[in-house]
Amino acid sequence: MNKSTVIDINQLGDERGLLTVIEEKLTIPFEILRVFYIYGTKEGVRRGFHAHYKTRQALICVSGNCKVYLDNTKRKEDILLDTPTKALILEPNDWHEMYDFSPDCVLLVLASHLYDAEDYIRDYNKFIEVYG
Ligand code: TYD
Repeated sequence: MNKSTVIDINQLGDERGLLTVIEEKLTIPFEILRVFYIYGTKEGVRRGFHAHYKTRQALICVSGNCKVYLDNTKRKEDILLDTPTKALILEPNDWHEMYDFSPDCVLLVLASHLYDAEDYIRDYNKFIEVYG
């Protein structure tokens, strides 16, 4: 079982403003094959509700904030993503749910694999069977 962790991403700034750079394998510990972002999330929405077999992800709130609930079958925790300089390295073995999205939240997700519906575990009992 791999443990999901929050890492700090450095921030470059000058009098013009701020800049954060993400480099494959240096900042994020995997090759990035896919990028998507979640935004315009309606109030009260909770999404995710799955784990993966293979896909590793990095979640970065580039605007606004949201929370991520993690469950690795042994331990449950809630992570607040509230700065573009913080990335949650989310391991495939963590069931995750994203919630409390601020109206301006843009949640950037970097993924280690291309989209494959077969890589999703969407049934909680199946998740326990696989990782419990
Ligand atoms: P979904 O998995 O329901 O999002 P979340 O887990 O955040 O609640 O994804 C919504 C839709 O988008 C679903 O029909 C699958 C599709 N989708 C893709 O086609 N490619 C992707 O890379 C992702 C993340 C989703």
